[in-house]
Amino acid sequence: MVDEKQFVLHTWTKQADWNAATIVGGAGAWFWDKQGRRYLDLSSQAECCNLGHQHPAVVRAIQEQAGRLCYISNAWGAQPRAELAQRIVALANQNPESRIQNAEDREHNTERRIHNPEGAIQNPKSKLQTPIYGRVFFTCDGAEATEHAIKIARWVTGRRKIISRYRSYHGATHGALSVSGDARSRGMTDGLRDVARVLPPYCYRCPFGLRYPDCGLRCADHVEAVIRQEGPDSVAALIAEPAAGTNGIAAPPDYWPRLREICDRYGILLIADEVMSGFGRCGAWFAWQAQHTTQAGALPCPDLFTLAKGLTGAHIPLGAICVTERVAACFDARTLETGLTYSGHPLACAAGLAAIEAYDAEGLIARATQLGRWMFERLRAMQRRHACIGDVRGLGLFACVEMTEDTFPQPLPWLKTLARAALQRGVSLAVRGNLMFVCPPLVIEHSDLEWGLSVIDELLP
Ligand SMILES: Cc1ncc(COP(=O)(O)O)c(C=O)c1O
Repeated sequence: MVDEKQFVLHTWTKQADWNAATIVGGAGAWFWDKQGRRYLDLSSQAECCNLGHQHPAVVRAIQEQAGRLCYISNAWGAQPRAELAQRIVALANQNPESRIQNAEDREHNTERRIHNPEGAIQNPKSKLQTPIYGRVFFTCDGAEATEHAIKIARWVTGRRKIISRYRSYHGATHGALSVSGDARSRGMTDGLRDVARVLPPYCYRCPFGLRYPDCGLRCADHVEAVIRQEGPDSVAALIAEPAAGTNGIAAPPDYWPRLREICDRYGILLIADEVMSGFGRCGAWFAWQAQHTTQAGALPCPDLFTLAKGLTGAHIPLGAICVTERVAACFDARTLETGLTYSGHPLACAAGLAAIEAYDAEGLIARATQLGRWMFERLRAMQRRHACIGDVRGLGLFACVEMTEDTFPQPLPWLKTLARAALQRGVSLAVRGNLMFVCPPLVIEHSDLEWGLSVIDELLP
């Protein structure tokens, strides 16, 4: 076997510290190393293997597509690309009729916010054409989806500024890291210009010293105050993770609709980063669908939302941005001046189609809610037994367990030791700073999850 450490630069780590087993196979929520040691995957790797490892239908779809056509550029059509885009759009539009109508009314009323620099709005949808979402732009991963969402928002509005949150993560490319409110972006001194950050909806250690729900969502008022300070006419978009994130922020469900209302008030586009929260992770196809409605009773639909990770269940890298038809139509007569060699790669799109089919056929989105309910009960019971746990938050099968000791983003030494001990016992889990994430594949057996949690329970001080 080749010594990987000798030849590979590994991500987000001091190279000297990297010391991992070589994994040779996996199935469902389990994977194993070359010595045959088995590990239960309680983090879905990087919160991306929502379908578990080696989902047979996805593997088969990739093999079949590889036998037909591996690659064709965007200058040509490719059926997997077309079908996947159609499927994503349908999932985004599959809200109850009344909600679609309400949201469409909202969009109709805020027509002004989409400014086409080359003239009038192109091909505006009539009220009878109910679907909101219209088209998909494909990228290779989540960071590129962020990059292109920012570009599209700037082109469509003719404005430059992007509002993003502290304690957010939108990818490691230059622009995506610049809009990320993440400690890892602090070294990016020459990042994107025209980015303003807002404080996060972080109820456990509220930056405003208030308590939810009596706070009246002061964090949302603060977003509006920052927009007003920045000059609303200069703000193209607000980007945020609706529910789950690597920085451990899980907003209360009435926060996202408030963002929608604020964006509407100032003609700002709302970008939902669904890279981690999408495809069942938060108990819905997309986490924005699991939020409360706006005061007007409308579903808080973002104007653009980004996807990756669960889109193919990480079987092949693929990212995407789903946009409203109103946004898409801005590029009917105007060139979309961007591109990627692998945009809508047929193999990746075939994997995406099979993944969506699997989520649907196996009822995995609903399962994430049901199993998640049980998982949260179990984690809250642990919180009552272990004084080191300060907060348990999240949605669906995304749980963030925050310890009372506040070291974030610096590691909490005993938590790192706990993760190593769990691995020794065959449980793989993600820890970051003083946070522990429990985000198993949606296909995990109930008994396996129960066993994995009991190992954590035994190891907690
Ligand atoms: C919310 C969110 N957005 C974007 C990204 C970047 O995705 P990728 O690593 O595929 O570029 C991530 C990755 O963890 C993420 O969690």
